[in-house]
Amino acid sequence: MLSGFPKKGRPRDEVLAEVKDLNAGGLVERAARFSAISMKGRLEAQQLGKDAFNEFYAHNAVYSPVIPSLGKIEDDLIGYVVDIFRGGDEGRANLTAGGTDSIYCALHAMREWGKTNKPGATRSKVLVPYSGHAAFGRGCHYFGLERVKVPLREDYRVDLQALVDLIDEQTIGLVGSAPSFPYGRYDDLPAMGEIALKHNLWLHADACLGGFMAPFVRLAGHSVPEFDFTVPGVCSISADLHKYGHAPKGISTVSWRSEEYQQHHYVLFDDWAEGAYFSQSLLGSRAASPAVAAWAILNYLGEVGKVEIARDAMKFKERFEREIGALPKASVWDTDLTPIVFTVDHDPESFLGGMLQRGWYLMGHMEPPLFQVILDSYPEELADELIENIKEVMAALDAGEDFPKVGLGYTFTEGGDDALANLPLWVQRAVPLMTKI
Ligand SMILES: Cc1ncc(COP(=O)(O)O)c(C=O)c1O
Repeated sequence: MLSGFPKKGRPRDEVLAEVKDLNAGGLVERAARFSAISMKGRLEAQQLGKDAFNEFYAHNAVYSPVIPSLGKIEDDLIGYVVDIFRGGDEGRANLTAGGTDSIYCALHAMREWGKTNKPGATRSKVLVPYSGHAAFGRGCHYFGLERVKVPLREDYRVDLQALVDLIDEQTIGLVGSAPSFPYGRYDDLPAMGEIALKHNLWLHADACLGGFMAPFVRLAGHSVPEFDFTVPGVCSISADLHKYGHAPKGISTVSWRSEEYQQHHYVLFDDWAEGAYFSQSLLGSRAASPAVAAWAILNYLGEVGKVEIARDAMKFKERFEREIGALPKASVWDTDLTPIVFTVDHDPESFLGGMLQRGWYLMGHMEPPLFQVILDSYPEELADELIENIKEVMAALDAGEDFPKVGLGYTFTEGGDDALANLPLWVQRAVPLMTKI
């Protein structure tokens, strides 16, 4: 007899009520509030996304080659992506399950490309700015690549001179963020492209965060740094539909300048009992629903809708800069796109705690301590509330009020046994087993 597994099934309504209950309090509610303001686009587009998601609820994208409807949806999405990143006739793309998956695909292809294009580079070094996402560090570990950390300039973009100085005969590729997660700023990809071409290196542009917003901000008449296939030297781009594509989690893209680069991505295995096995990303089975939701949302919005969203988000950015930037103890950074980054002259962890009490989970970054809000198009009342709540918390801190501290960055497991005891059991058990790379 099993002991940790429910013995008897429970009534449907009871189970669903518990799910709703679990979603109504604590962290999930805060996360929902967080995601309400993070990259979820128009509310009606979200609702459509949910309905479309449910239509393909049980489908497996690994079978899209033999499910024509799903194959069409995936082909359409790939076409949109190549178009958005100005890949032209040569451009190619694949769908993946997330930003990390896309980055792993790019690192794998880069390694395979290096085998023929950099045969002397047995250590396969990849130069990654310090602001580059953790997925590059973890991916290098999984693929036997050597991640070389490149320092940032004072403006938190990659230091190009340091980058050039670090290139040697073991280097196979470079990574630039468009923009970076911690600072919302773009690395100078056109300059990196020149460096990549000069040294015969693979250049990956990580547009996971901004990829599906930047082109539309540009179409709305604002300037955005260049990062796509119009930049000579860019070989691959990661961009998440589950961020500024407004889709639910589980769908991202990796694009290739041409088949010359994409050919290093696909891996076909047939030496087993079921014949030739291949897929679009590193995964085998992949949920089909997030791609379907993305397809529905993008078709609902179209270019016109995406540009309107970009306009709304930029309008709110200007308002945020005006109102929060005017507070004597706050300063809003000059970011390149719609993730906003700001600092306050108060204890950052207490500020985050005050915001959390009001239901906002703002991501706090660490070096230096700063806060991030990722803007999208959402109801005016929510924007009003965010600005009011920031002002309220600042005033309370000015008046000497204290709030329970909330850690910055991904520091969930820091703070000793007490902090750990509040985390899920799997995390408590995982921490002592982790290999720090
Ligand atoms: C710039 C950047 N790259 C990569 C990622 C990783 O994406 P994911 O969380 O979908 O794996 C993120 C996530 O925030 C990001 O901001």
